[in-house]
Amino acid sequence: MTRSLPFAGASLGLPGRYYTEPEIYQRELKTLWRSSWQWVGRVEDLAAPGDYLTCMLGEEPILVLRDEQGELVALHNVCPHRGARLLSEARGNCKMLQCPYHAWTFDRQGQLVAVLQPKWFPDLDKSQISLARARVECWGGFVFVNPDAEGESLGEYLAGYPDYLAGWGERWEDLREVARTSYEEPINWKFIVENYVEDYHFTIAHARSLVPLFEVQNIRTLPTGRHIPILVPYVSEPPADPATFRHWEQHRPSYQGFIFPNMMINTGKSGCSVWRVTPLGPERSRLETIHYQTPGQYAAEPYLPESWAEVMEEDFAVCRLLQQGVGSRAYQVRSLAEEHELGVSHFHQVLAQYL
Ligand code: FES
Ligand SMILES: [Fe+2]
Repeated sequence: MTRSLPFAGASLGLPGRYYTEPEIYQRELKTLWRSSWQWVGRVEDLAAPGDYLTCMLGEEPILVLRDEQGELVALHNVCPHRGARLLSEARGNCKMLQCPYHAWTFDRQGQLVAVLQPKWFPDLDKSQISLARARVECWGGFVFVNPDAEGESLGEYLAGYPDYLAGWGERWEDLREVARTSYEEPINWKFIVENYVEDYHFTIAHARSLVPLFEVQNIRTLPTGRHIPILVPYVSEPPADPATFRHWEQHRPSYQGFIFPNMMINTGKSGCSVWRVTPLGPERSRLETIHYQTPGQYAAEPYLPESWAEVMEEDFAVCRLLQQGVGSRAYQVRSLAEEHELGVSHFHQVLAQYL
């Protein structure tokens, strides 16, 4: 499925305008953010009939709800009368979906059931009108939506990634949210991804935070389909510093990695930290970090919120530097480390399929 990069030339990487120009940003919204599977939430957030969540996938408002049969339904959150956004709350429970503009009302399958002043619409056949469908599927308790009604299943899209994550050995369905933080940064979303999928920066940016914990030389980047699993082994000797020792594991590595286009997973001894990147503009992004634990992990060691703050700031600091350099005529990517920046070139190849 890989074809050569339209933007590959004398230098590696994307031209600088891919990180700054509104035109490129719009193209991304109209291609990859419209037609890929994206992580939107957890099944336990949608436990009862009528529970819903809303989200923006690219520029498209989407809602996911549980119907009376217990199935998840994904719909475009846009009224077919004149196009108003239907639901505005991030989460809630509904019996019906009623448009706030002229009160057209839809059932939980998105079927139009009532119209205000029906006599004013003599030719309207309600049975022919419903909300546009998106697709929803789950893996490991994570809910994914594809705004496109057609195309490959989530299983095909994930291309074996769940087999890699099974190595962690915990039941992914048992994870429950224990904390979340949201960051907004003046950084193009692709710089956040690129920094995440390479470990060449570890010894500089994370000299104090991650290097004492992980065997940095032996991190393995394992591109799989559109995605980038990253296996991170711990140092073999127990770290002396108690704060670092708390995260250290003897018998298994940290299963980390990127699921294109918006999800980053980081397993650890006492839980799993899952990050979601959302583009907010050509030079602005949101990163939500959500921390999960199984009941057993929570009982053994409840999550401590300070454990990730330092690493996040170390990464945002270097990404801000990239955003500051990218507008320069001198901006270029001259060479990439064979293994330890492999994720960057793989990500660019995947982007090329969409752009
Ligand atoms: S736009 Fe929704 S009822 Fe008119
Ligand atoms: Fe980093």
